[in-house]
Amino acid sequence: SPAFLILWGPGLFRLTCYYYRKAYYRSFWLAPAACTVRGAHGSYSGETRFPLILQNLHRYAWYFAVIFIALLTWDAILAFRFPDGIHMGVGTVIMWINVLFLAGYTFSCHSCRHLCGGSVNIFTKAPGRYGLWRFITRLNERHGLFAWLSLFSVGLTDLYIRLLSMGVIRDLRIF
Ligand code: FES
Repeated sequence: SPAFLILWGPGLFRLTCYYYRKAYYRSFWLAPAACTVRGAHGSYSGETRFPLILQNLHRYAWYFAVIFIALLTWDAILAFRFPDGIHMGVGTVIMWINVLFLAGYTFSCHSCRHLCGGSVNIFTKAPGRYGLWRFITRLNERHGLFAWLSLFSVGLTDLYIRLLSMGVIRDLRIF
């Protein structure tokens, strides 16, 4: 599938996500098993050595993720366009829900929060960035929820579109 050509972008972003890292470090490697608990593999070196130092690519992967949000939003806008005019089908709704969950995941990212206000020393001197940082912080508190919702929505949206394109199902039109 051509989707594999672009999979590296979202894949790198998700694989290096702080939330998923916590989950797979604890679940699969038991390193560390939990806060202040000694890991199962002796000394703990954090993410200071190869290959885990590559996790730092996350902050750069965020920029690619934002590009994908723009592309998916454009796709969702085009989903209103039918051969006989402007309409809305179940597929349109599914695509918009997917964009909302993915945007929630991308903009609740820890790197995004840092980018918006993490480098500001005095918030009163940067009220705009402070407001943005507060908003992102509220989203960030639900980052884990967005991580799971978007993980399923992206897969199910792809499946729905694939089944439509193969003629297995028909899109119900809402208006
Ligand atoms: Fe999860 Fe950035 S921390 S996407």
